[in-house]
Amino acid sequence: MSETLLEVKDLTIEIATRRGPATVVDGIDLHVGKGETLGIVGESGCGKSLTMLSLLKLLPNKIRVAGGSAMFGGRDLLTLNNKELRAIRGGRIGFVFQDPMTSLNPVMRIGDQLAEPLIHHRAMSKAAARQRAGELLKLVGIPGAEQRLDAYPHELSGGMRQRVMIAIGLACDPDLLIADEPTTALDVTIQAQIVDLVKGLRQRLGMSVVWITHDLALIAGLADRICVLYAGTVVEDAPVDQLFAEPAHPYTRGLLASIPRMGAPDSARLSSIGGTPPEPGRRPAGCPFAPRCPLAEDVCRTTVPALAPLRGEATPHRVACHVANRVMEAA
Ligand SMILES: Nc1ncnc2c1ncn2[C@@H]1O[C@H](COP(=O)(O)OP(=O)(O)O)[C@@H](O)[C@H]1O
Ligand SMILES: [Mg+2]
Repeated sequence: MSETLLEVKDLTIEIATRRGPATVVDGIDLHVGKGETLGIVGESGCGKSLTMLSLLKLLPNKIRVAGGSAMFGGRDLLTLNNKELRAIRGGRIGFVFQDPMTSLNPVMRIGDQLAEPLIHHRAMSKAAARQRAGELLKLVGIPGAEQRLDAYPHELSGGMRQRVMIAIGLACDPDLLIADEPTTALDVTIQAQIVDLVKGLRQRLGMSVVWITHDLALIAGLADRICVLYAGTVVEDAPVDQLFAEPAHPYTRGLLASIPRMGAPDSARLSSIGGTPPEPGRRPAGCPFAPRCPLAEDVCRTTVPALAPLRGEATPHRVACHVANRVMEAA
């Protein structure tokens, strides 16, 4: 296994509600190796964005980290002060979020937005930063890059804006790129182009990537490992091939079953998991997925399953499910 770059342990995040604090991220463990791409998947609302925002101290008001650690380059990101974090954010860690707070500034020219992190983190001169900004736009495949430097975001198409955001995320040659659903709003052709782009850059720059998506089909071609989140917990974590070959958690199987397959009849495409994830503060006792799970037994409604290696072996494939582990061990 490669050297670990980021190791998140027992991360817990709470939202302040009128009824008191409600847990939204409940003891997540994640690790990302050097040069590795980790895909994080799960339905909307399962805590993917908050997890990543918390690492960069970008959580919205009323939402706070209640426990855990996030070691990055020998330091716990969760204990850094704002100044220390600003030195890492956009520098050693690049990010592409859809959140308007962290996306493009509508009244600032593209070139200036690209140059800013270079001037701030790399102490480049204005002229050098502008030249590098032009190179970055070329790198992400924007035609006529030099002319685009003076454009404002609204003058570009959605796909081009997304590329600009990726260029900003990559500006300082980060060790880690965090991409939170960076292609969700784009059509499939452009999605595929952006995935190819990140794949190529990852190889060339040797960076690690955390790519968040609710789209398992998209992540299949990109990630080395996949971590499946449900209701703020990791329910399955495995190398990508193992996850697709032998999905163990009923939730993962539900997600896989809802991927449209080429040539499948429309009825087969629409299979998906019934029900919705629990709201913060309304988590059931036991396994959070039990109320929606076709295989749930009594133990699932009383006892939270631990994330444990499948079949009790020393394997990187881990699952948090009473039933799956028993079925697999028996097989
Ligand atoms: N600004 C916010 N205020 C209140 N609740 C929020 C806010 N952002 C997220 N949440 C809640 O936290 C949970 C996790 O959100 P999020 O991390 O954005 O999910 P995901 O990225 O997986 O879709 C959701 O249930 C959502 O309702
Ligand atoms: Mg999100």
